[in-house]
Amino acid sequence: MLALLLMQLLHAGFGAPGTPQRTFGIDYARNCFLKDGQPFRYISGSIHYSRVPQYYWKDRLLKMKMAGLDAIQTYVPWNFHESEPGVYNFTGDRDLEYFLQLAKEIDLLVILRAGPYICAEWDMGGLPAWLLEKKTIVLRSSDSDYLAAVGRWMGVLLPKMKTHLYQNGGPIIMVQVENEYGSYFACDFDYLRYLQNLFRQHLGDKVVLFTTDGTSKIFLQCGALQGLYSTVDFGPGGNVTAAFSAQRHSEPKGPLVNSEFYTGWLDHWGHQHCVVPSSTIMKSLVEILARGANVNMYMFIGGTNFAYWNGANMPYSPQPTSYDYDAPLSEAGDLTEKYFAIREVIGMFKEIPKGPIPPTTPKFAYGQVVLEKVGTVRDFLDQLSPSGPIKSTYPLTFVQLKQYFGYVLYRTTLPKNCSERTPLASTFDGVHDRAYISVDGIPQGVLERSKVLKLNITGKAGTYLDLLVENMGRVNYGRYINDFKGLVSNLTLAEEILEDWDIYPLNIDEAVEQGLINKIPGNISSYDVPTFYTGSFSIPSGIPDLPQDTYIKFPGWTKGQVWINGFNLGRYWPARGPQITLFVPSNILVTSSPNNITVLELEKSPCGTEKCLIEFVDRPDINATLHYENKTEKLFTRDVWLDYI
Ligand SMILES: *[C@@H]1O[C@H](CO)[C@@H](O)[C@H](O)[C@H]1NC(C)=O
Ligand SMILES: *[C@@H]1O[C@H](CO)[C@@H](O)[C@H](O)[C@H]1NC(C)=O
Ligand SMILES: *[C@@H]1O[C@H](CO)[C@@H](O)[C@H](O)[C@H]1NC(C)=O
Ligand SMILES: *[C@@H]1O[C@H](CO)[C@@H](O)[C@H](O)[C@H]1NC(C)=O
Ligand SMILES: *[C@@H]1O[C@H](CO)[C@@H](O)[C@H](O)[C@H]1NC(C)=O
Ligand SMILES: *[C@@H]1O[C@H](CO)[C@@H](O)[C@H](O)[C@H]1NC(C)=O
Ligand SMILES: *[C@@H]1O[C@H](CO)[C@@H](O)[C@H](O)[C@H]1NC(C)=O
Ligand SMILES: *[C@@H]1O[C@H](CO)[C@@H](O)[C@H](O)[C@H]1NC(C)=O
Ligand SMILES: *[C@@H]1O[C@H](CO)[C@@H](O)[C@H](O)[C@H]1NC(C)=O
Repeated sequence: MLALLLMQLLHAGFGAPGTPQRTFGIDYARNCFLKDGQPFRYISGSIHYSRVPQYYWKDRLLKMKMAGLDAIQTYVPWNFHESEPGVYNFTGDRDLEYFLQLAKEIDLLVILRAGPYICAEWDMGGLPAWLLEKKTIVLRSSDSDYLAAVGRWMGVLLPKMKTHLYQNGGPIIMVQVENEYGSYFACDFDYLRYLQNLFRQHLGDKVVLFTTDGTSKIFLQCGALQGLYSTVDFGPGGNVTAAFSAQRHSEPKGPLVNSEFYTGWLDHWGHQHCVVPSSTIMKSLVEILARGANVNMYMFIGGTNFAYWNGANMPYSPQPTSYDYDAPLSEAGDLTEKYFAIREVIGMFKEIPKGPIPPTTPKFAYGQVVLEKVGTVRDFLDQLSPSGPIKSTYPLTFVQLKQYFGYVLYRTTLPKNCSERTPLASTFDGVHDRAYISVDGIPQGVLERSKVLKLNITGKAGTYLDLLVENMGRVNYGRYINDFKGLVSNLTLAEEILEDWDIYPLNIDEAVEQGLINKIPGNISSYDVPTFYTGSFSIPSGIPDLPQDTYIKFPGWTKGQVWINGFNLGRYWPARGPQITLFVPSNILVTSSPNNITVLELEKSPCGTEKCLIEFVDRPDINATLHYENKTEKLFTRDVWLDYI
């Protein structure tokens, strides 16, 4: 017993005489990291705990370990943890410390990207939307209100992280400060210095703090700071020597580090699914590893933008629910051909752990489920907006309503008879992001941010004009991250400004969770205004190992949001694509009772004319041929970054 205890103590390196301390640092003379006094190079992969249910963290981390990785890299999305000022959540799928503990148990080091800004194709790049309550705030700068909020948040986050630092017995070897700050217009060194001091104050002076920027001089100019080790990010297929020479410009000595080596690329609704062949990745990965450089593969597993967490790029293009990224582990954690290709490359440079790789989780096709229309958003206003509307002469934004995500109903009455088709119009950037319009319950069409600015409506004076406005995800990159949602400018009807709004904040998630979306008896006529549908399905008995993961498919449906047992799975939009199916992790399903499905279809369901059903299938489809694609629209590639910084 005593011997065992002693061994454990020695193993943990608690300063027994002759045992080296746990240390991690930079050896500038030998151009490498030093771990416990020995030269060290890491091969790492990105996984965002916020995009994988806690239930699957261990499975994904084990698969990463078995690929031969030394480390994982994760972002901390501030808005995932502090939903309102001073209200923190670190439990369940948000239990970051448990995630770190698992990484340690599996013997993976952690590279922590603590923010405050993370980009990450995550809503507002991880910044909480409530920061915008100060309308003129300059985010990611020395703006005093911004710094005060950052200071409070880091005062909560970083002390928690301190116990998980490598030198304190935990897995965290390095902590990133900000993210690609050099590609932001503000270029505020006082801000970077403030963060540096803040991180040092909370984490001490031993931990390696670093920055990451694109491989261009202009990025490194504003992104690098004395005292923060600067690293770079670049994808496969380019000139590795040239890319690292950009880092050498900032760091003449020290380890070479590519903090984001792209294994795939991000998607946007309405554009083809991005795919990067394994052969391209293998070639560049060999070159990087052969020169002794450190690398983090972004992403190693992308995961899912559940609920409303996706971000958007400019010109406004939101990302879909799947963040599959064409990564070596699929959105659902499946082992892919790319996984084995990368594992083989890693095996050329170090020993891969022996033992079985956790297998791909089985998927189950639960089949078709008939849904029933239960009522329109308008029918449920009392349940969705219990405190009633806010009255305002001109429209208010989501932030002014203190509702940060989802949907808000803007209602006014028609000031005049529109017996002829009358133009309802917004400014170019006036609707954030999509408005579903009806007059007296009769659908009129959709306005879409910087895409559809005008439509004709008809209706009688005094009848309700309703606009259900969807926040499709805040801009996560560049100078447009101050993304107020809702009607952000006036609307005109026949060129006159519409006034006297009743604005209904809608808490749909709570209503769904509390089972308030139940069938409303009455006239079921329209299937093309925003409407709720429900249904349920039971997990078949007699088949072992159920429930299993599945994918949900919406044949004939247009665009909307879906919940299962109150869990918000995200947005579906098969009418635009490329994503057709949504990943349903098994942990949200139950065998003890039927599983409840709630669908909010915003445009048009097939239920009026065709079969009213959704289908659970055992195969993902996130790469469909598009029904909608604007080929002249600028795609968000690395080359167009410069236009939006
Ligand atoms: C905190 O987050 C977890 C995981 O998403 C969630 O289940 C829980 O309801 C949240 N807690 C509060 C108080 O919102
Ligand atoms: C890669 O870049 C280096 C340094 O800029 C240059 O010397 C070399 O010729 C380039 N290699 C290729 C194949 O273009
Ligand atoms: C609208 O038209 C109706 C007849 O269709 C008429 O009674 C009413 O006065 C008109 N209202 C306005 C505001 O023009
Ligand atoms: C609105 O109606 C007018 C007159 O019928 C027509 O010229 C115009 O193209 C329509 N506009 C839209 C956006 O449908
Ligand atoms: C709406 O129009 C009114 C009157 O012209 C103006 O005072 C107000 O600022 C406008 N609101 C927005 C959000 O543009
Ligand atoms: C239902 O509403 C439609 C359109 O408003 C109307 O034509 C129909 O008569 C109504 N049916 C019933 C049963 O009330
Ligand atoms: C589904 O809804 C029914 C009826 O409201 C409820 O009794 C049941 O507990 C729900 N099932 C789950 C898994 O939440
Ligand atoms: C989408 O990907 C799947 C799995 O990789 C593949 O079987 C299918 O052919 C692809 N579909 C299209 C339209 O590219
Ligand atoms: C396609 O995108 C371009 C550039 O954003 C825009 O000018 C054009 O109007 C769009 N075309 C369609 C059909 O939406």
